[in-house]
Amino acid sequence: MPHPQLEKIKVCAFDAYGTLFNVHSAVARGGQALGDKAQAVSDTWRLKQLQYTWLRSLMKNHADFWQVTSEGLAFALEAHGVDDPELHKSLMNLYMTLDAYDDVIPCLQALKARGLQTAILSNGNRAMLDAATDSAGLNDVLDASLSIDDVGIYKPDPSVYQMVGDRFGVTADEICFMSTNAWDASAAADFGFNVVWLNRFGQIPENLPGELVTQITSLDELASLL
Ligand code: LAC
Repeated sequence: MPHPQLEKIKVCAFDAYGTLFNVHSAVARGGQALGDKAQAVSDTWRLKQLQYTWLRSLMKNHADFWQVTSEGLAFALEAHGVDDPELHKSLMNLYMTLDAYDDVIPCLQALKARGLQTAILSNGNRAMLDAATDSAGLNDVLDASLSIDDVGIYKPDPSVYQMVGDRFGVTADEICFMSTNAWDASAAADFGFNVVWLNRFGQIPENLPGELVTQITSLDELASLL
């Protein structure tokens, strides 16, 4: 059923990591040497990667997403007692071509068939986003892939969310934004986007400003809301 708050939507913008791409697929594919530490390393990696984006933004000391991802992985390996530079290198290489979730292409195809415009809005640097969208075969179903490289600061800085309206010439309330990351969903809603929280993992919402339109558990549910 179409959602009454989503009647004006012209552009659907998606977070990339965790939303379209499975950030745990690098360790799943190349982390056999980690044995029973694999999930813990992958979780710490993701946590530190995100923390470093927020901290560097506050510190006004920007480094691109490749560097913070590498530094987050180095922390995670050390925290779990792993000293293996070759593993660090191979996991970083795998991060370039993470698996897309199965619901991504059908969802983007359905949105395009409705005449909506589609975009990625991500912390990822240009090279990382290009490699990930190429390997997942998303180029035909995306109108734009927007990287924070162009503003030099990470989410949730409002200048990041502003990029979508600037690119498509639409207002914030004509944009529907999807993120699995609850903090990103809240910040995008606080900015003025209509946000559908993709709650893939049954998480509880963050106590942050920004009212979400609704939540779904799979991208299969999105097209019918629009
Ligand atoms: C991104 C991070 C937040 O893709 O996952 O922007």
